Amino acid sequence: KAIEKVNTEISKALLGHSSENQNKVDEIMIDLDGTDNKKRLGANAILSVSLGINKANAISKNISLYKNIGDGKTLPIPLMNIINGGVHANNTLRIQEFMIRPDKAKTFKEAVNICFLVIQKLKDLISNKNLSTTVGDEGGFAPTLSNNEDAIELIIESINKAGFEPGKDVSICLDVAANELYKDKKYAINSAQYISSNKTIEYYFNLIKKYPIKSIEDPFFEEDWESWIDFTKSANKDFQIVGDDLFVTNEKRLTHGIKKRAANSILIKPNQIGTLTETIKVINLAHKHNYKTIISHRSGDTEDTFIADLAVATNSSQIKTGSLTRSERVAKYNRLLRIEDELGNSAKIAKV
Ligand code: PGA
Ligand code: ZN
Repeated sequence: KAIEKVNTEISKALLGHSSENQNKVDEIMIDLDGTDNKKRLGANAILSVSLGINKANAISKNISLYKNIGDGKTLPIPLMNIINGGVHANNTLRIQEFMIRPDKAKTFKEAVNICFLVIQKLKDLISNKNLSTTVGDEGGFAPTLSNNEDAIELIIESINKAGFEPGKDVSICLDVAANELYKDKKYAINSAQYISSNKTIEYYFNLIKKYPIKSIEDPFFEEDWESWIDFTKSANKDFQIVGDDLFVTNEKRLTHGIKKRAANSILIKPNQIGTLTETIKVINLAHKHNYKTIISHRSGDTEDTFIADLAVATNSSQIKTGSLTRSERVAKYNRLLRIEDELGNSAKIAKV
């Protein structure tokens, strides 16, 4: 259906327009769709054309894609999802993503190398426990562990065994994806029993106190603004609180969040919003208000590597694109390694 829309309505509307003018092309598609959330033509159909036009334009100018998207030259720090839970895995872990972030890496190559060494140790630890080392949707392991803390402790042990210091060289980041847990205004983060949102905040603070966790994504349901605001107010200023389902890469929702001081970082998923122009607008708005941007894949993703170039071009601080398995995840890391090579001495890596 998406391809049919591209080959008929969309191509008819765009024929004769220049690929030089990304904003115009995106505007035509937004108007052609005519709905608030691109549900008529579909965000994936529109986005494929939006990104394809930028790529074609870069090729016709014979320049690298990231140079065609923006002026940035910063490699993002990877957030690697190395244990998958929630709806991304067939296990009982309630938190969806357990990630590692090599905070002190001086190059992107070093960042990937550090994560690789930790992942190898994690694999050994999991198989020594006679648990499965098969992977989930985003390429992280999906062992049957009894609770969130078991997964975190296993990751800490792997960081130590790989010769790094947890919380200093490598920190732990979580994506709770609380929308999936939220039922009847209650959360069930820690057990099968639902608990109140106050208790959920308390649970997070206990976790942060006990473990080297530096970032939590989607700790609350997307409409539970109050809990988001409370949590942001009481957390340390340098603790990263990321809105994914909260903001859905949407300018209006981010504007509201900035005004209310909910979260301090935003996950950027181009297909949540549907065009490159709108994606970049949201990134710029976030940066203007000192919100960090984390460019992200989807759990169901393709081998397309556009997000790697997007992260560099926009000087985004981090990228979230799974573990070092499954080629649709590895493709993005490989692209970033090539960009770093190409940039040579002018390459910088982001600070988190
Ligand atoms: P997705 O989730 O399954 O919606 O792509 C990824 C995420 O929550 O970050
Ligand atoms: Zn998320």
